[in-house]
This record gives sequence, C-alpha cells and structure tokens, in this order.
Amino acid sequence: MNIHKYEKAWLVAAMVLIVGFIATITYGAVGPGIAMIDDDAGSIDPNEISDHERFGETGVEHLGGNEYEVDVVAQAWSYSPSEIEVPAGSEVTFYVTSRDVTHSFTVVGTNVNTMVVPGQISEMTVKFDEPGEYGILCNEYCGQGHHTMEGLLTVVPEDEFDLTELSTDAPREVEAGNETTINATVNNGMQDGLETTATLEIGEQQYERDVTIDGEGSAELTFDVDTDALGAGEHDWTLTVDDHEESGTLSVVSETDGGDTNE
Ligand code: CUA
Repeated sequence: MNIHKYEKAWLVAAMVLIVGFIATITYGAVGPGIAMIDDDAGSIDPNEISDHERFGETGVEHLGGNEYEVDVVAQAWSYSPSEIEVPAGSEVTFYVTSRDVTHSFTVVGTNVNTMVVPGQISEMTVKFDEPGEYGILCNEYCGQGHHTMEGLLTVVPEDEFDLTELSTDAPREVEAGNETTINATVNNGMQDGLETTATLEIGEQQYERDVTIDGEGSAELTFDVDTDALGAGEHDWTLTVDDHEESGTLSVVSETDGGDTNE
C-alpha cells in the first residue's frame, strides 16, 4: 500500500499528540503529588470530637525530625486553632474534621484544599520550604458567617520556631518573714530534649536554674523567695525561659498591717 508522504506526516503528528496528551494526564495525576481525600484517615463521631485522641487537643505537634502534625477542627464559622505556626523546611500533615456542617480547609497558595465533612477526617501532607504567610479559608458555603470563616498559617524561619510553653503559679501576697515559692512549669513540645536556663528576677534578687527536659516532657521549677530580703511592699517579678516571659507582683505585708486590731 502506498501512503502519500503528507498523509504519513499527519498520521505521525496525530500519534505524537495522542501520546503527549496521555503523558500530560498521567503526570498531572501522579507527578505533583496531589492526592484525593479518601477514608484512610478514618471517621469520627462529631459529638465526641472533644474526647478524641487527635482532636481533643488541636494544634501543632512535633512528630520528630522535620515532621509535624496539625489537628484542626472546623465549625461554623471558625477554625480551631485559627492561627497555626510551623517552621520552614517542615513536612506538615493536616488532619481536619468538622463539628457541624460541611466546610472546607483551604490554604491559599498551596495544594491544601479539602472539603471537611462532619464524621470524616481529611488528611493532607505538604512541605513548606520557605518562610511565609498563607491565608486559610472556607470554600464551602456553610451559613451566614461563611465569608468570615478564616485563619492564618505562618511558616516561620526554623530558628524562630518554638513549641515551648511556660506557665507560672505564684502567690499574690505573703507575710514578711514567711517562706514563699514561685512555681513554674515548662513544657517541651518537641521530640528532642531541651536544655535551657530559667531566670527569676524579683526586687533586687535574681535566681537562676538550669533546666533539662526530655522530648515531649515538662519540668516543674520551684523558686524559694526570701521575703525578709525583699522587705515589705509590692515587688514585681519576671520569670524568663528562652523567649518566654511570665510576670506578676508579690506583695509582702508586715505582720503589723495584717489587719489585726492590736493597738
Ligand atoms: Cu465554613 Cu464556609
């Protein structure tokens, strides 16, 4: 059979196009790592979100290395948490569920764009290489406050990221001469150990304590404060651990103005 050379050229061109189209579609489906939401992440009873091991406490959790997990609950018309911070260079897996109606969890400018269906858990993993800010919004109409449903994801430089938490427990008032303590709890949210120094400044006094905390652990610190040295009056105190600071005021009252009527 004799095929005219133009006919041949058109046949070849058509074949090239067909192979090209199939290659493009295949690449689009597998190449960029876009995954469909499936039921791998499991289902959940929306009434029991607060007791759920994953969503009972929402927020960022360190899994080890550069891997993090972020658990988010969507509800009319907000996300919990509404502000999320992760470090640059991290691989973040989001787990999102809804407390009421269908919402979406869309991180503008990334591949994260999923429906959030009550009863289902949506799971997505993304890498964040560079620091930046991303808006989070809801793409599914969910009622009159739909357009106000938003959040913010901040990718901070790696050395600014911190999952340490500091809380304190201190008396407001103490009688002069009595012993008193200012207590603090330092929580280490990372899987790696934490070595740092806690400093308490009160009046002219300064106390320093070296703190070593295991990964995912916490440390209780107790500072004995010398009320005699402070003297009567109001004393501001500041407790510092890394970039965290808690402060308060301790008033030392002398026994005579303790309210007793001994003229
Ligand atoms: Cu939630 Cu729209």
